[in-house]
Amino acid sequence: MRYIDLRSDTVTQPTQQMREAMYTAAVGDDVYGDDPTVNRLEELGASMLGKEAALFLPSGTMANQIGVMCHTSRGDEVILSADCHIFVHEVGAVAVLSGANLRALSFPGGIYDPAMIEQAIRPQDIHQPRTALICLENALGNGRLVPVEVMEEIYSLAGQRGIALHLDGARVFNAAAALGVDVKEIAKNCDTLSCCLSKGLAAPVGSLLAGDQATIAKARKYRKMLGGGMRQCGILAAAGIIALEEMIKRLPADHDNAKYLAKRLAELEGVEVEADSVQINMVFCKLNRSPEIIEALPAKLLEKGIKINEGGQRGFRFVTSNEIAREDLDYFVDTLADFMVK
Ligand SMILES: Cc1ncc(COP(=O)(O)O)c(C=O)c1O
Repeated sequence: MRYIDLRSDTVTQPTQQMREAMYTAAVGDDVYGDDPTVNRLEELGASMLGKEAALFLPSGTMANQIGVMCHTSRGDEVILSADCHIFVHEVGAVAVLSGANLRALSFPGGIYDPAMIEQAIRPQDIHQPRTALICLENALGNGRLVPVEVMEEIYSLAGQRGIALHLDGARVFNAAAALGVDVKEIAKNCDTLSCCLSKGLAAPVGSLLAGDQATIAKARKYRKMLGGGMRQCGILAAAGIIALEEMIKRLPADHDNAKYLAKRLAELEGVEVEADSVQINMVFCKLNRSPEIIEALPAKLLEKGIKINEGGQRGFRFVTSNEIAREDLDYFVDTLADFMVK
């Protein structure tokens, strides 16, 4: 049975073109630097992001964690958002791997405030930790965008204070498409950035960490330390190349579909859509129905061939991606409408 899967853009299947490229990929032992397909992906990623070098990694989490490891020493402090992936969804890895202190700021609406960041930078004081790193996300995990000017302001502040900036760019290509800028315009406002090939871009596995040569050489060693040195992984990188060369072109279609979905949902009685937060491929909405109806919804929709996550604090999140067409969204909204009247 085919499901309409609105849980995340991580659920995408590799495309036929990817499967064929994976099948025929030239490979070698990447720990020796011998895999031509991985080398090509890393060069392509670095050049698209406007950085000197890039490293192929198994996941966005590992890319972020190695990014933090590269910029910090034990006892240093990292400023980040209390809502961000590194703080909330990476299993406390910074404490384990970097031994750094996290200074999590609660930005109103999750939107970065450079003044709050500036205030959180530690003075030089024998009692206080050294602020070594600021971590940002763009696009934000809440589906919103960070304007390039805001990134510029924070990066310039970081530079003046001798602090590095790492960007969790899991969806940086979504951000670039939605902001209408070349991804380099975003990437130039950070020292390192991670980007995911497996979110929305349909590669089965993989992320890149990009930065200057020296940092990426250090990152390569950390990857080995964490057991992430992969051998003939050109098979995976082959799909990553198609993600970068082909799949980013179709991200605006996901964004348009999310806007279409938000509009259709807003027409339903009892549905409160956060219309202004639909900036990439995510729609957040609240359903004004009893907790019983809301709790039962994912299971009921599953019976109709639709997968959604349980509702959270911001209600439900629906994510559009490569395999979701307009007809699927119509079917979803019509099915949801049925459950809303019951
Ligand atoms: C903003 C953000 N950063 C990082 C990650 C981590 O990626 P991975 O699941 O590949 O570890 C995710 C995953 O959804 C994410 O949404």
